[in-house]
Amino acid sequence: MDPTKLKPESVAAQALGWVDEKTRAITPPIHLSSTYLRDPDNQYRSGRVYARADNPAFDQAEAVLTQLEQGAAALLFASGMAAATAVFQALAPGDHVLAPQVMYWSLRNWLMNFATHWGLQVELIDMTDPAVVQAAIRPGKTKLVWVETPANPLWTVTDIAATAAICRAAGAKLAVDSTVGTPVLTQPLVLGADIVMHAATKYLGGHSDLIAGALVARENDAFWQRIRTVRAQVGGTLGSFEAWLLLRGMRTLFLRVRQASASAQRIAEHFHGHRHVEAVLYPGLPGAPGHAVAARQMKGGFGGMLSIRAKGGEAAAIATAAHVELWKRATSLGGTESLIEHRASVEGAGTPAPADLLRLSAGIEDAGDLIADLEQALARAHA
Ligand SMILES: Cc1ncc(COP(=O)(O)O)c(C=O)c1O
Repeated sequence: MDPTKLKPESVAAQALGWVDEKTRAITPPIHLSSTYLRDPDNQYRSGRVYARADNPAFDQAEAVLTQLEQGAAALLFASGMAAATAVFQALAPGDHVLAPQVMYWSLRNWLMNFATHWGLQVELIDMTDPAVVQAAIRPGKTKLVWVETPANPLWTVTDIAATAAICRAAGAKLAVDSTVGTPVLTQPLVLGADIVMHAATKYLGGHSDLIAGALVARENDAFWQRIRTVRAQVGGTLGSFEAWLLLRGMRTLFLRVRQASASAQRIAEHFHGHRHVEAVLYPGLPGAPGHAVAARQMKGGFGGMLSIRAKGGEAAAIATAAHVELWKRATSLGGTESLIEHRASVEGAGTPAPADLLRLSAGIEDAGDLIADLEQALARAHA
């Protein structure tokens, strides 16, 4: 069977169905070599020279991701941050970029404190409103628009297709951090984005046991080649073992994401209007500001991430997190175990996270157990 014609669930489950030609192993070996043999006539016919630039340990995971995102090529990186910053480093000093006011805080900090010093003109806007994007984009000058949807930690939603049309008309590339959407629920390249980015640390790896990042491109063009050069030269290269773990994790991606999304939806509905809860932020709630757009561009669920704002402010939120027994009090997301954190404590000054906000990553435990644990934690915090 032609693996490129298979449904994405089958692609992921069998990692494109590859077997090792030499041994007939159905899971790949881990190649640890940092360097490759040069031919006696001074050529490198294998196409590989040095593992900072290229590594056979990446091939299968990059091919699976390329197909899941329906792109032309993929690159693995040492972290989500290494992947994201490689896109900006492929730009030139003086280029104008638009990024969201609400986005993963560490990337926002890097943009404002490092990328600007390096000469990028970074403008943070309300990316959820296409009219704002249209007004801010400078044709010929804006080279990149960065979108995160749903976006940390308020789970605001950006219309990828509408933003892509604005970018195309202005000659800007559109990159989408689809870490929370995952290829299971959203395909930004199909909706018109040029590059999709994943913190593969999260749902793609899925087990809270590796740090990794990935980019997938719609076209293998000159900009993509510059990004490839950034990876090779700056050296944000993934380790071989992490690439192997990532491929292993992606085999169960569809099961995990669907379970986490279904649980997040149940949790959101349960705590919406709850006596100890000020608000539930989740695009799957019909009243959420981004619900209609999310329903259009996310297929089969609204993701495993949600936030709840505790009645009683910061102290009540922190006390709720203190009282959970099943949820784990930790940062990060996308693992099998459910995580809870007081987000403003993580992000510090300048965060858009209200002081009463708890960020929740639904794992794959029983949703009823997760709800019961939050119920008792909220009750004890408000006793
Ligand atoms: C949405 C999003 N993008 C990017 C990153 C950065 O990924 P990493 O921690 O692998 O560098 C994270 C990490 O939390 C994230 O949640």
